[in-house]
Amino acid sequence: MSANKRYHIHTYGCQMNKRDTEAVGVLLARHGWDAAENEATSDLIIVNTCSVRGKAEDKALGKLGLLVSARRKQARSQIIGVMGCMVQRLGDTVFDKVPGLDFAVGTRRLAAIPGIVDCVVAGQGPVLDTGDNLDLAEDLCGHEEGSVTALVNVLFGCDRRCAYCIVPTVRGREWSRPADKVVEECQSLADGGIREICLLGQSVTQYGKTNAVFDESTQSSAGFTEPLPRLLESVDAIAGVQRIRFTSAHPSGCTPELVRAFKELPSVCEHLHLPVQSGADSLLKRMRRGYDTDVYRKAIAALRDVAPELGLTTDVIVGFPGETDDEFNATRAFMNEMQFDNAFIFKYSPRPGTPAAALQDDVPDEVKIQRNQLLLSDQESRGLALNERLVGTHVEVLVEGVSLRNEAKWSGRTRTNKIVVFEPVSGLKVGQLRHVRIDRAMPQTIYGYIDDESFSNNTSTRDHDSL
Ligand code: 5AD
Ligand code: SF4
Repeated sequence: MSANKRYHIHTYGCQMNKRDTEAVGVLLARHGWDAAENEATSDLIIVNTCSVRGKAEDKALGKLGLLVSARRKQARSQIIGVMGCMVQRLGDTVFDKVPGLDFAVGTRRLAAIPGIVDCVVAGQGPVLDTGDNLDLAEDLCGHEEGSVTALVNVLFGCDRRCAYCIVPTVRGREWSRPADKVVEECQSLADGGIREICLLGQSVTQYGKTNAVFDESTQSSAGFTEPLPRLLESVDAIAGVQRIRFTSAHPSGCTPELVRAFKELPSVCEHLHLPVQSGADSLLKRMRRGYDTDVYRKAIAALRDVAPELGLTTDVIVGFPGETDDEFNATRAFMNEMQFDNAFIFKYSPRPGTPAAALQDDVPDEVKIQRNQLLLSDQESRGLALNERLVGTHVEVLVEGVSLRNEAKWSGRTRTNKIVVFEPVSGLKVGQLRHVRIDRAMPQTIYGYIDDESFSNNTSTRDHDSL
């Protein structure tokens, strides 16, 4: 057994938070901490928080309260800290909400955590750090070993001002990492066995728009001039990287060059998460989204033109202030028109300080719940119908390991980001690209068996037409 002290990080929120948790874990490991099996055996527990909806914050505050009171009851010495979006929003009031916390670190100071923990150990707590400089950002490029997919930060912060959204407040101004740093990180991930990379940014299509990311002397051999397509080209060129995704996109960033990147770069997967938020132009305007349904429609048409099998997923908010039945019905109809493969539906939650918080939250909760359920049930049937079309076909799957839901099965994802569950066979290994024949569909999962041999097409993994 190691003599090192043990840490555990409990994570709420989006993929960016998942990535932050991983990066902080690697930093702690470099400072002599080991990952604990569970909270009970941890000497240090950190809760990584989300502020996007009131409920997410309530959950994190509840969790922190429980941790502090469990520590008190057991009279044990354990460090309890909080990091991420909620800290940025609440500042030092987080210590009033949860008395007993040892430290609180905001979204831009995560790399300072090991040093802050040292201060707490030395009796200098509680510590608050919500600074907004990103000097330490490059310290956060470590990854856990043993996976086949990796998340890579490319853009921090968000300069959009969607009326409902707290993210610009909690994640700060936009700043894009230099492309060579991103490529270096992806190269070392590929060398370590990573096959799929997902480039992350709150509004990732803004990559390189507010600060220069490419050396003036470098040129794109494909003739791309926009930063995101150029970055995709550079990551595509890394041997070993078989799949690239990026999230979250904004319709304004679905330019002809980005569409060409989908067409010409073999590793760029036929998958896009493109939050639409509403299908009513009047509501999109009140949400200050900066596009209308026609812009969205055209972006998807252009993408489907080059990638007809595109897996398209989205986010939708129901119950934004003043949302009428007509506006809601327009959203329903638009979702049907777009044929989303999956959709995350959220009930509007007013966030303090956002422009929409000044509007009356006038859609009653029962109506929000009802609208939420309607969209979810529409999506279930649509997801099922779309997945049923895949029954009898072969899909290329990146093998990720034993299925989370059923230990007797394995699972992976298609390039279009569908989860595929299949029977293990001899020689099956995590990280392989295998062909699976689909024999059953559910709204969010497809099932089948490995059938590489009868797959008639060229099985080259970098062949764009192989799906
Ligand atoms: N209320 C409800 N949902 C929200 N989202 C962002 N802000 C809010 C809010 N105030 C949703 C959006 C976004 C997703 C991550 O969370 O749909 O795309
Ligand atoms: Fe939540 Fe947004 Fe922060 Fe992600 S960036 S954790 S979704 S508030």
